[in-house]
Amino acid sequence: MKIQQIKFSGSRNSYSILIGRNILSILPKKIKVICPKVQKIALIIDKNVPNKLKKLIRNKLKRYKLVFLNFNANEKSKSIKTVNEIVEKLLLLNFNRSDLIIGVGGGITGDVTGFIASIFKRGINYINIPTTLLAQVDASIGGKTGVNSRLGKNLIGSFYQPKLVISDTSILNSLPKKEFICGYAEILKHSIIKDKKFFNWLKKNTKNIFSKRLKYLNYAIKKSCLIKMFFVNQDVNERNKRMVLNFGHTFAHAIEKKNNFSKNISHGEAVLSGMILESRLSLLKGLCSVKTYKQIIDVYEENNLSYTYKKFSNSKAIRDLIPFLKNDKKNEDKKINFLLLKAIGRTAEPNKNKIDITTLKKVSKLLVNRNF
Ligand SMILES: NC(=O)c1ccc[n+]([C@@H]2O[C@H](COP(=O)([O-])OP(=O)(O)OC[C@H]3O[C@@H](n4cnc5c(N)ncnc54)[C@H](O)[C@@H]3O)[C@@H](O)[C@H]2O)c1
Repeated sequence: MKIQQIKFSGSRNSYSILIGRNILSILPKKIKVICPKVQKIALIIDKNVPNKLKKLIRNKLKRYKLVFLNFNANEKSKSIKTVNEIVEKLLLLNFNRSDLIIGVGGGITGDVTGFIASIFKRGINYINIPTTLLAQVDASIGGKTGVNSRLGKNLIGSFYQPKLVISDTSILNSLPKKEFICGYAEILKHSIIKDKKFFNWLKKNTKNIFSKRLKYLNYAIKKSCLIKMFFVNQDVNERNKRMVLNFGHTFAHAIEKKNNFSKNISHGEAVLSGMILESRLSLLKGLCSVKTYKQIIDVYEENNLSYTYKKFSNSKAIRDLIPFLKNDKKNEDKKINFLLLKAIGRTAEPNKNKIDITTLKKVSKLLVNRNF
């Protein structure tokens, strides 16, 4: 059993991320060390996680008093109502701060579980077992937790770090392709914003990642975690540097909102489209070269991902996104605050590319593929 370990050291606490295949058997040993006073454990488990995983966890943790809470993870159930229901269950079961909550699921489960852990008696031990590629390479790192409000996504939340993250890649076997692409989009984004060498490696090995070849998947997850951590460490409360992680996401959020968060376009597909549109914008603004842009396009074409941006090959499709771009959380005035690219591995400074609507309407014609 080969386990890769990444240590996160924050100003107030530190924890490890363990990555490997079939590594969940390490859980009891780790719990003993990091939260030795635990008696009760509540497991909040995504209902789509295979049963054999639940059985394995039950078996490994049988010496504790276990409570299994099956969670139907979707953006609607990522709510304060769910949080309240679970918190009340734990209160009735007399959980206290030395006990433990474990989240087993994708980013939704992790965000909800982390938020519950942060507010339950002002903070209870928390372990995250991410079960989607997106959660393993992105959502489980950085300590952002939270739920949606009817007024918008992720509007209620906290910053709270887990005691441990275990990313077992064997759990990804049951993950549908569309969900896998969501994680891949963030891996590709991490390489584009920070690491040219990793980008070149991805160019060669994306097919190995999609075929879930262990060595390649482990490496991509580890590199991706390290890049996200690099930005998070510099800016734990998300004031400036961390905004680099938003590359591709300004357009992506507008695409998702325009489509009413329909399952037809997943978050990952929207990010893949957004990265192309924002690369084109970088090119038009003279920030990056045609060569940089073409290198990114090549990765899409070689891996059948170009369908994601081909939807935006007419200027009307782009103009239709403008009303949704106006509501982006990063905007501080009437301009749209883009995070643009200078080269593979290097972005422009955050808050330096605010574009007004009139200009954006003009460039929407030029954003169309045929001009490059
Ligand atoms: N906290 C952060 O920093 C951060 C970062 C990025 C995204 N997020 C949040 O993460 C959420 C998206 O995360 P996600 O893409 O993991 O979505 P998700 O949690 O909805 O999981 C995606 C789907 O996969 C299913 N699933 C999970 N594990 C599975 C498995 N092993 N096998 C089969 N099916 C499985 C889920 O039931 C769900 O239907 C969003 O709510 C987003 O806001 C948070």
